[in-house]
Amino acid sequence: MVTGQSAVSRASFQDGVFRMTASSGQRASVEVQLESVSHRYGDSLAVDRVDLRVSGGELVALLGPSGCGKTTLLRIVAGLMTQTGGSVRLDGEPVDRLPPNERGAGIVFQNYALFPHMTVAANVGYGLRARGASRAETARVVSEMLDMVRMSQFAGRYPRELSGGQQQRVALARTLAVKPRVLLLDEPFAALDKNLRLDMQIEIRRIQRELGITTLIVTHDQEEAMSMADRIAVMNAGVLEQFDTPEALYDRPATLFVASFVGTANLIEGRLSGAPGAFVFAAESVGPLQLERAGPCSRAGSVIFAARPEHLEMSAADAPAPAAGAIEARVEMVLPLGPSLVYELSRAGGNGLKVVLPRSNASARWSVGQSVRVGVRAGAPVSFFAR
Ligand SMILES: Nc1ncnc2c1ncn2[C@@H]1O[C@H](COP(=O)(O)OP(=O)(O)OP(=O)(O)O)[C@@H](O)[C@H]1O
Ligand SMILES: [Mg+2]
Repeated sequence: MVTGQSAVSRASFQDGVFRMTASSGQRASVEVQLESVSHRYGDSLAVDRVDLRVSGGELVALLGPSGCGKTTLLRIVAGLMTQTGGSVRLDGEPVDRLPPNERGAGIVFQNYALFPHMTVAANVGYGLRARGASRAETARVVSEMLDMVRMSQFAGRYPRELSGGQQQRVALARTLAVKPRVLLLDEPFAALDKNLRLDMQIEIRRIQRELGITTLIVTHDQEEAMSMADRIAVMNAGVLEQFDTPEALYDRPATLFVASFVGTANLIEGRLSGAPGAFVFAAESVGPLQLERAGPCSRAGSVIFAARPEHLEMSAADAPAPAAGAIEARVEMVLPLGPSLVYELSRAGGNGLKVVLPRSNASARWSVGQSVRVGVRAGAPVSFFAR
């Protein structure tokens, strides 16, 4: 068995830490597999039968609102707590009975607790020394790690002499120094301002690619998930709603929750009829919309229609009605946001709509108070969900 931390770190020392990752036949990227993992805290179910298979070298974001079970799931993978149901495998091997130090998972938490009385170099080398690495070996790895997170010039400083982003990078270096098989990040940028967050997102992505280390990152920030992850696992109330690429989540949300949580969705309650190739959606203030595609729900009946703001287009209310049908609406607000114009619209008998048009080809500019017709752009991937 090569599951023990000591075996893992010994092997990596022999190979020369990190140099092995890009070369040699040794498997550096570990597959993480969750099989029907559940967790109860007393009576309350925090994680509900989650199945997830993260490929070796992949960066997966766990995305969902506060309290949906992200941290619980991450702690289960790390071995910091034992799930009440299901199992976790690393490269096919069940690790449910292994304590955290034998799973080889490196964790970086939101509060990056560095040891305040140790220099940056001592912090990064701490885990190696604790595992019995020699002084020379430790110094070599520390210097390599600090290079990687671009903190070499700060090796002699104390954590209190660093900015939040710098401390976060040291925490990352400290975690990576012991060569974890899996990297687990729990809201690691929460304490950082927007620019630093962006820098760290890019940095972590770069390092993660360089090392090919399988990574799970918890976030409730959809933009962060979208910009960093190969695939995103969207969670809601303990349930995994969808596990897919950012593009697929956005264009083909599997559930109403995903449609609303990832990106902005215009939602309209109404009735769907027709058949593939010729669906018709009707609701109050919606002249029947003719649509080729209906998904994921394509059964006639009561549905919720969901369209992204850029999937809609506008025409004047007094122009001939489009053949494919339109929604009657009124312009309430226009927001010029850089390259786009965002229109907030109201409509009779339902919630408002948001339409985004590129500023460059917004041939007609609509003004506040104007009545408009809103149509669905040809081929736009709108969605329907059963009610
Ligand atoms: N030790 C605990 N005892 C009882 N309930 C807990 C415990 N830890 C978490 N919970 C509950 O389990 C659910 C999931 O919590 P968890 O911390 O995993 O959520 P999260 O998705 O990480 O949320 P956040 O984005 O706020 O960090 C929540 O309802 C929470 O209140
Ligand atoms: Mg959490």
